[in-house]
Amino acid sequence: MNSQPIGLFDSGVGGISIWQAIRKLLPNEHTIYLADNQNAPYGEKSKDEIIALSEKNTEFLLNQNVKLIVVACNTASTNAIPHLRQKYKIPFIRIQPAIKPAGLQSRTKVIGLLATKATLESTMLEELKQVIPTQDIEIVGKYGKGLVEIVENNRMESPETYELLQKHLQPMLDKNVDQLVLGCTHYPFLIPQMQKILGQQVQIIDPGMAIARQTKRILTEFDLLAPDDQQAKYYFYANKSTKALQVRLKNYPKAVIKKI
Ligand code: DGL
Repeated sequence: MNSQPIGLFDSGVGGISIWQAIRKLLPNEHTIYLADNQNAPYGEKSKDEIIALSEKNTEFLLNQNVKLIVVACNTASTNAIPHLRQKYKIPFIRIQPAIKPAGLQSRTKVIGLLATKATLESTMLEELKQVIPTQDIEIVGKYGKGLVEIVENNRMESPETYELLQKHLQPMLDKNVDQLVLGCTHYPFLIPQMQKILGQQVQIIDPGMAIARQTKRILTEFDLLAPDDQQAKYYFYANKSTKALQVRLKNYPKAVIKKI
């Protein structure tokens, strides 16, 4: 069982921001990643549609014999995790917007949250706001419309990208945010561009390492860590085009990329 791979899924290449952190922290683990780009983007779909797609992705990964699944997509995590945990026995790692650490670190007491429409509207986000000590913290939530497509098409440095980012981030600057929570796994690939617009006084919170640490904790708890001498293998699947995966993974020669 310990030699079985970790499964990850997302609507596209966004979850690679999580995979990179997992690979760094857990270098012996085999991984299998599914980019459901046939159905991307998830961010404007209904909760029921997101649950159905998450089930399909889970079943694909279970057929690949994974030992744990990282739902490397905020939209699927915030909308489908309770359902997945109820239906399947395997451990799931969910990604939720890092509002709590941002709230604790904020000096201005105003934090920004950039996420998809479905994440911003999810009941889980509401619950998260209730449980954490953010009573005195204002959250400026904004739907990052168009940003997933920019990352999928690798257009990070185009003038239109800067224009769109300015449009999304200016309302946050106007409210004096000093923390920006990235509530979509595609967005960390735009950190350099966002930082140019926000300046150094705004800290951008990328959840990758926290998720990798949580993955390690759960693997340890279930006694599922890979053997120390295991040479990790990385498989990436896409059900529409593999182009975005190839671009995003060009620095990882060990990644095997296939269309399904
Ligand atoms: N990367 C995803 C997320 O974290 C999905 C974005 C989308 O497909 O809209 O929410």
